[in-house]
Amino acid sequence: MKTQVVIVGAGPAGLLLGQLLHRAGIDTLILEQRSADYVLGRIRAGVLEAGSVEVLERAGVAGRLHAEGLIHDGFEIGYCGSRHRIALKEFTGKSVTVYGQTEVTRDLMEARSAAGAPTVYEAEDVSLSDLAGSPRVTYRHQGRTHEVQCDFVAGCDGFHGVCRRSIPADSIRTFERQYPFGWLGVLADFAAPWHELIYAASERGFALASMRSETRVRCYIQCSLQDSVEQWSEARFWEEFGQRIGSDLAAKIPQVKSLEMSIAPLRSFVAEPLRYGNLFLAGDAAHIVPPTGAKGLNLAASDVFYLHEALEAHYREGSSTALDGYSARALRRIWRAERFSWSMTRLLHSFPADAFDQRMQQTEIEYLLESRAAQAALAENYVGLPL
Ligand code: PHB
Repeated sequence: MKTQVVIVGAGPAGLLLGQLLHRAGIDTLILEQRSADYVLGRIRAGVLEAGSVEVLERAGVAGRLHAEGLIHDGFEIGYCGSRHRIALKEFTGKSVTVYGQTEVTRDLMEARSAAGAPTVYEAEDVSLSDLAGSPRVTYRHQGRTHEVQCDFVAGCDGFHGVCRRSIPADSIRTFERQYPFGWLGVLADFAAPWHELIYAASERGFALASMRSETRVRCYIQCSLQDSVEQWSEARFWEEFGQRIGSDLAAKIPQVKSLEMSIAPLRSFVAEPLRYGNLFLAGDAAHIVPPTGAKGLNLAASDVFYLHEALEAHYREGSSTALDGYSARALRRIWRAERFSWSMTRLLHSFPADAFDQRMQQTEIEYLLESRAAQAALAENYVGLPL
């Protein structure tokens, strides 16, 4: 079999790239190791920058997002028993849209099947060869081995995927920071007693009050990396969450069963460059951000936006300039989002810190809450730097 671009990974990065390329008349095959249900079962963040919404519009998949997404003009920072609003719209003229990554993925899956473009789920043992020349991709599906020849491979297969690992060690450099805590998240159906997201820095650790819709909440607390979900009953979660977020809100949380509860470690990671021969990396295959700034999905959207432009220039004009510039262009934006996510994580979590570090952290939060200049910088990054 032959196609123009093989996309490895049917998460939001791979599906969005597939849709943008489909609209440009470029043929793609998507290979996904998991089943469609498994992909949809992964709960991720849910805050879209205005730029990401524009990319989804271009891909023709923003209908439900506009109908159901919640527009937020600000968010709050909880600190020392009170809450301070960061007025995103006032500072930047922009808002963010609260719409779950699961829903973005679902919309993209539907668009792809409506387009009749091929996706192979449960593709096993995906392997890449001849990346420096005419790439070949082999995989097994339902017991049979298949081989595909293509012009380019897009590695959208996440942090643990095969694409980044297919690059020879001397042709890639990685940068990494692990954080000494995780996030315990709960998804539950009730109407949030908060109207905007609240990022709370408390003495007991960080907590985040978020939502997915008018009737569904998503909440997190900073937890130990040694914790397991089994150690956390729902009652214990809400008790701890309530202490960190504030008693006024805690009193309004109903006793309902949660839909999902999970622990995720926090990591910052970047691989450079994003190209090896005719393989291009995008999304979590290339970088990971801690979730504090909600940048993961937004970065995936900007990566694939740049990559689709470059591939389109190649096929339409025969020009390789944009493909040659893809890595540097994407990395510039990636490092800025990495910086922002790292600084927000540092600002709001409890770290094993010495007395000096603790005072510095306090001083940084207090400065932010009193300085309009600092708030404007935070807002500029939160709504998303230009594409
Ligand atoms: C979420 O709703 O899951 C969420 C929102 C904002 C974040 C991280 C996660 O910064």
